[in-house]
Amino acid sequence: MVHFHLPEHSQSYWRDTSKLKEFPSLDTSIHTEVGVVGGGITGITTAYLLTKQNVKVTLIDANPILKGTTGHTTAKITAQHGLIYDELIQHFGLEQATLYYKAMDGAKQFIENTIKELQIKCDYYHDDAFIYTNSDQWKNDLEKEKAAYDQLGIKSELLEAMPLQLPMKLALQMQNQAHFHPLKYLTALLEKSLKNGLTVYENTVAVDIDHNHTSPVIVTKEGHRITCNHIISASHFPFYDRDSFYFTRMYAERAYVLGMQATQKYPGGMYINAESPTRSVRSTKWDGKELWLISGENHKTGQGKPTHEHFKSLQAFAEENFTVASYDYRWSAQDLTTLDKVPYIGYLKKSTPNILVATGFRKWGMTNGTAAANILTDLIMQVTNEYAELFEPSRFKADPSIKKFVQTNTDVAKQMIQGKLDNTNNQFDLEQLKTDQATVTRINGKRSGVYKDIENQIHIVDTTCTHLKCEVEWNSGERTWDCPCHGSRFSYTGEVINGPANKPLKKMAPDKLN
Ligand code: FES
Repeated sequence: MVHFHLPEHSQSYWRDTSKLKEFPSLDTSIHTEVGVVGGGITGITTAYLLTKQNVKVTLIDANPILKGTTGHTTAKITAQHGLIYDELIQHFGLEQATLYYKAMDGAKQFIENTIKELQIKCDYYHDDAFIYTNSDQWKNDLEKEKAAYDQLGIKSELLEAMPLQLPMKLALQMQNQAHFHPLKYLTALLEKSLKNGLTVYENTVAVDIDHNHTSPVIVTKEGHRITCNHIISASHFPFYDRDSFYFTRMYAERAYVLGMQATQKYPGGMYINAESPTRSVRSTKWDGKELWLISGENHKTGQGKPTHEHFKSLQAFAEENFTVASYDYRWSAQDLTTLDKVPYIGYLKKSTPNILVATGFRKWGMTNGTAAANILTDLIMQVTNEYAELFEPSRFKADPSIKKFVQTNTDVAKQMIQGKLDNTNNQFDLEQLKTDQATVTRINGKRSGVYKDIENQIHIVDTTCTHLKCEVEWNSGERTWDCPCHGSRFSYTGEVINGPANKPLKKMAPDKLN
């Protein structure tokens, strides 16, 4: 078997093939009507919808916009969110499960209508979605899911063969779904919003909300203040919690994507298996060529094997099943899952009608993010939205929540304890550390992460996560320090990449090693 090389650096195809505008950082205090924190699909679509109605919107992002999960998605526009509908019917009832499907189908329709209305060229194609299994154990689950589809009136079929040749025993097809280039789509929405008066600030980190006034205020890391009528937290993990304990009600997972070309023709379809490890395949047009996106290897953030092994596993899957010609891209993404698998969209708390949140998209961010933008816009404009109650963050569904809550918190407690155990590299010798390699050691009794960059510069951070003091672990594929507890991620210099943490890891001077 021929083994092709994987790209050396992590780079998302979407970001590599988009022309993104640059925006300044906020350097003063301002007033706005709606302050949106987070420049991904939720934030930009909400800004588009609100500015269309002449609302003054200011959008900020801790990084360049579209650099977070939206820039690293697989961009499937589908209501087939893994095996979900049978579970939703069991836990929420038929009526709520129907609403979930309608919300996702409506989001797909919204994207399609917007593409037509704004004449966006974003490689939008209709395609069927398939969940497949090669295990007898999971066949029963697929049959139950099919029964749920029938109850909900979803057009579908159980199949014993799929257009894409993969080892499988049964597949459930959801017809007429779609995929696109998310950044081409969102840059068009952004352009339109800018014309309608949107203001954008990048590299502007929101660290707090001052809520002691009639109008809430976003406070940035530099101490600048954005006074708003409404604040929307669309920043993946809510940057502000106000005793809502979102970090106890969600867990973070990472997933990996390979972009490859094959000598065989892609037969169409978007595929995901039911069992673990996750394997998902779709394709996209790339300058007249076909780029296959192979993704999966999902695991809780900070709890996986070394990152390159996840990519190797996807590579092995690709080479076992397809005629690989080259690997052109690799990247990874992180997303959050709520305790009952339905996102939290709406008021942060019932008592804060001017602070809204959208999070927990469980890797189905294109439809969930679009549905969230429509719900949040309606809540702000005081328009009734039939889906608002289903997604309300303050809901409590006893059945699944309790079971998962206990499991999630046991996991977090385990990570906290494990991280504190002395499993650091006490025999550490700086000379032995190769370039682009990291280790964890003790410096003056303190657990510390040491990374030697490609120019042989040493970067040392205190590995205690600034959120709730779990210990971060090295992610070799992305060169980040990842927290296993609630998914915060930090660069090798300690800067926050993903919250809930909003303070950097403490840096230590390299001379401390001597
Ligand atoms: Fe919560 Fe690190 S993300 S402790």
